[in-house]
Amino acid sequence: MRTLSGIKPTGQPHWGNYFGMIQPAIHLIDGNDAYYFIADYHALTTVRDAEQLRRDTYEIAAAYLACGLNPEEAVVWRQSDVPEVCELTWLLSCVTGFGLIERAHAFKDARAKGRDAGFGLVSYPVLMAADILIFDADGVPVGKDQIQHVEMARDMVGYFNQQFLGTTDYDGEGKWLGKGLKRPQALVRDTTAVVPGTDGQKMSKSYANTIPIFGSKKTKKKAIMSIVTDSLALEDPKDPDTCHVYSLYKLFSTVDEQEALAEKYRAGGFGYGHAKLELLAKSSEFFAPMQEAFETHMANTDHLEDILQSGAAKARKTARQTMDRLYQATGLSGRKVGK
Ligand code: ADP
Ligand code: TRP
Repeated sequence: MRTLSGIKPTGQPHWGNYFGMIQPAIHLIDGNDAYYFIADYHALTTVRDAEQLRRDTYEIAAAYLACGLNPEEAVVWRQSDVPEVCELTWLLSCVTGFGLIERAHAFKDARAKGRDAGFGLVSYPVLMAADILIFDADGVPVGKDQIQHVEMARDMVGYFNQQFLGTTDYDGEGKWLGKGLKRPQALVRDTTAVVPGTDGQKMSKSYANTIPIFGSKKTKKKAIMSIVTDSLALEDPKDPDTCHVYSLYKLFSTVDEQEALAEKYRAGGFGYGHAKLELLAKSSEFFAPMQEAFETHMANTDHLEDILQSGAAKARKTARQTMDRLYQATGLSGRKVGK
């Protein structure tokens, strides 16, 4: 199976990214044909600082590698080094009705808040579909919030194949025939539904409630100490199951360790500050080896760039082959790009 996923370089990678996407994606490398990239075109919907974008791009690359992605076993690249995705975005735009776009969460959100969505945001799900479809990906490991985007990519496969080939491009047994686009599937791990942020909402860079995977102990401590709790006094017994600190602790601990912490909550005489320190200790221990690897990679961005360029060369070859096929399907250029 070919697995494919991406993260936007819009700030420091956080625990939500790790448990929702990076860790499951890395587990999937073994036995699969894995393609993981840094979605810098997507970041341009909001980022306006070139230096920052370059740095955040390296941070995501370093994060992938530090968390276990071996560039010999998986293809890793920067989205804008494979500009063919923009070409496919146009083809998909031509078959996608505005009705589908209007149902996208990010677009609906912008409208509901009275903000002008901007054409980049309108087109965001189309670009994301192009990312997936240009590589004929089968499985897309993402957090729960991205399922809708993968569903939209599936819809676009249907429109494209039907309109250009006049068929679904699948046979009666559900086997893809390989003339148009292949239908992908979202791969979402149940256990990692949504990682809560310091305020209890979904952890997200857009909500400024993240806890970074990497960074100084001071920054992480500050973020963990700011996790919102109720106002029970230190001596009061507490309910672990309604506490965000406890939910986050579960991500890093064994069942026995979780039970031990739950006991302390229920017994009273144990404050949220204590629980936060336990979370800090456990998470720091968990991420320590990755932190070290991350720093080593960030200290040598030339090497990171080499890895990204060699990944881009492989990814681009696959993307060009797909475009060649789609030129045939649509009647566009007679030039054979895949050769
Ligand atoms: P953000 O919301 O912080 O901008 P991204 O949109 O870049 O994060 O997400 C990158 C990947 O991480 C996606 O697959 C997304 O589903 C996953 N992810 C982000 N936040 C969370 C979360 N709080 N819980 C689970 N998965 C998440
Ligand atoms: N939209 C995704 C996010 O915000 C990032 C992304 C862009 C992506 N293209 C993708 C994820 C293709 C999976 C596949 O997290």
